[in-house]
Amino acid sequence: MTLKNGSFLTLLDYSAEEIEYLLDLAAALKAQKKAGIPHRVCEGKNVALIFEKTSTRTRCAFEVAAADLGMHPVYLDPSASQIGKKESIADTARVLGRMFDGIEYRGYGQERVEALAKYSGVPVWNGLTNEYHPTQVLADMLTVREHFGSVRGKKLVFMGDARYNMASSLMIGCAKLGMDFTACAPQKYFPPKDLIAKCEAIAAVSGAHLCFETDPSAAVQGAHVIYTDVWVSMGEDESVWKTRINDLEPYRVTREIMAIAGVQCRFMHCLPAFHDLETGIGLDIYQKFGLTCMEVENEVFEGESSIVFDEAENRMHTIKAVMAATLAEGLQAAIQA
Ligand code: CP
Repeated sequence: MTLKNGSFLTLLDYSAEEIEYLLDLAAALKAQKKAGIPHRVCEGKNVALIFEKTSTRTRCAFEVAAADLGMHPVYLDPSASQIGKKESIADTARVLGRMFDGIEYRGYGQERVEALAKYSGVPVWNGLTNEYHPTQVLADMLTVREHFGSVRGKKLVFMGDARYNMASSLMIGCAKLGMDFTACAPQKYFPPKDLIAKCEAIAAVSGAHLCFETDPSAAVQGAHVIYTDVWVSMGEDESVWKTRINDLEPYRVTREIMAIAGVQCRFMHCLPAFHDLETGIGLDIYQKFGLTCMEVENEVFEGESSIVFDEAENRMHTIKAVMAATLAEGLQAAIQA
């Protein structure tokens, strides 16, 4: 298996075997890290990290993973660069491609990360676009594997706003790897119809079942994972809060919902989460709407079934696998040594 010189823009571009290879590689690199075994398989390379939107996990994961692989990461904050203001994505790509061995992009439309890949001539990795968040789903799948032994045949329920990058990418990942996927939301919050059609065709091959359910109690029966995300995505206006809260309150992940799912069920969230009043936005929501949590109750977030910090750690190991797989020479021999 070689993914060398390829980009990682959406899981739609990757076969089940390629995704499983990345998960195996991430697990091997994680074991090496835990054992203190160096794995500088990209020694001397340089990578650019473009963030047009804020980040904690993704940025730190790319920076730490790059350093562990022997690379030098350069963080590009658009407020301090020419991207999008004085220079197009295509021109930026042609400049960065002359200096760097790989480029990470977090920002707006998928067409921007695709243009970077088209014009730079080096591997480009999607750190989140409006449409997809593929590195998050790799981390999620590694976490499911660690807790359940395998992904195939398990059931993941996404509760909340299923129209955007997170639910879309989970649906693709589940369909590819043979994991059952349920989107549980009001009908108008279901994933895009064209993507559902693509995923149903993929699921017909892998054996995954895709469901779209409006009733939370029916959706979560027998779930191995209940997954949720914030109700307002990055870049959306505050004016949508009221409608979103009214529409999505029945889809909050509560202790009752976890109990209906069963003791086997684990709680996952890509983070950051609004589960208490310890953040500026949390306090703001409390003052405007009287809510002490949003998409998940604090008792679930902090409870024994919550594996959100395993998931967050795995961002680093899986992002490392993506960079190593697309950049390193003689990777397999280096990992086995
Ligand atoms: N889950 C995730 O992408 O986190 P950040 O926004 O902190 O990178």
